[in-house]
Amino acid sequence: MVEKKQAVIYYSLTGNTKKIAELIARETGADLLSVEMEKPYTKFSASTKGVFQVFRQSRPRIVDEIDVTDYSRIYIGTPVWCGTLVPPINTVIRNVNFSGKEILFFCTHKGSKGNIFKHFRDILKDSKILGEKDFQDVVDKDSAKEVTEWVTLVKIRKV
Ligand SMILES: Cc1cc2nc3c(=O)[nH]c(=O)nc-3n(C[C@H](O)[C@H](O)[C@H](O)COP(=O)(O)O)c2cc1C
Repeated sequence: MVEKKQAVIYYSLTGNTKKIAELIARETGADLLSVEMEKPYTKFSASTKGVFQVFRQSRPRIVDEIDVTDYSRIYIGTPVWCGTLVPPINTVIRNVNFSGKEILFFCTHKGSKGNIFKHFRDILKDSKILGEKDFQDVVDKDSAKEVTEWVTLVKIRKV
């Protein structure tokens, strides 16, 4: 069987989502594609400008266009901000054509993930959504086992 080419696209402000993205990449052999903003948030501006942009559903400019042409299976990861996805991930999922791709969502949060997966699914209607997983309080944990279990579970999943 031909192995599907995989990518992990993620944004991370304080490292939690990056940690999970790296564990998924290590487990699956996927390429890591970090989403970098042209005007990066600081911890302060995340709580002011960032929150404002969440509510406006803004698409802030990102440094490099994300090219998914070569990938058939794509993990997309975001921190939860105000119960939904962060603006730079909003930019990616609204601007990049993911139709026909197998998509797996993940998010990191501190206990309140809101309706984030519904928001994802509503935006990516034309994709094949294979799975979704939230990781809580990542900073306090060794998440390797949780990642391995999820990745193993979805590895053989078909649409
Ligand atoms: C502006 C802002 C809003 C947040 N909103 C939520 C929230 O609604 N629910 C929650 O559980 N955590 C919330 N958090 C916490 C983050 O989701 C959590 O710390 C996440 O793991 C951070 O990921 P990162 O380290 O990859 O940036 C928020 C953090 C920030 C900075």
